[in-house]
Amino acid sequence: TVGKSTNIKWQDCSVGKIDRERLLKQKGCVIWITGLSGSGKSTVACALSQFLHQRGKMCYILDGDNVRHGLNRDLGFKAEDRAENIRRIGEVAKLFADAGVICIASLISPYRRDRDACRALLPDGDFIEVFMDVPLEVCEARDSKGLYKLARAGKIKGFTGIDDPYEQPLNCEIVLEYKGGDGASPCVMAEKVVSYLEEKGYLE
Ligand code: PPS
Repeated sequence: TVGKSTNIKWQDCSVGKIDRERLLKQKGCVIWITGLSGSGKSTVACALSQFLHQRGKMCYILDGDNVRHGLNRDLGFKAEDRAENIRRIGEVAKLFADAGVICIASLISPYRRDRDACRALLPDGDFIEVFMDVPLEVCEARDSKGLYKLARAGKIKGFTGIDDPYEQPLNCEIVLEYKGGDGASPCVMAEKVVSYLEEKGYLE
């Protein structure tokens, strides 16, 4: 969409991203966790946040559910509202990354186009897409919030995976696969993300 702000000029400051990163001893980036409701996005985001915090790394979670309580309280779940939810979270995540923070965005973000638009906001490599590869049947069986039951009963319309689409990533950086049993606990999954960050030099 075309912006409505006119007569505006970008303001620069002599203290930049690199200076903040030096101070924090880390590199700012966005870890974008996408997947169905109940796939474990928030649990993995939280485990990851704990690991990073213990290592003295500054991170911050932007959780779809939480951001919808404030900044995005005006948005529902139709495609345009989801697109706007994702766009705003992408822009906020970009600011966090520019602040030198490891920003963990955890939201369904069902459309590839919307996720790719967020990726395009960041320098190459700084948008790390993580796919929670958990079958719908598993998410539905968990039904921790009871929402799948309501969706099946027709009491929630347009529920992702039931009567609304979810487009899996085609080329994401990390796939966290459901293996059943203890095969991949949230901690094991979070460790996989930490290893990736280490390997790519984000933790210094
Ligand atoms: S999106 O698609 O990225 O804009 O969604 P998100 O901001 O992550 O919000 C998803 C949470 O909202 C609840 N909820 C729904 N999810 C999917 N479809 C519909 N119609 C819906 N209505 C409410 C649900 O609790 C989601 O939370 P998670 O954490 O994903 O289970």
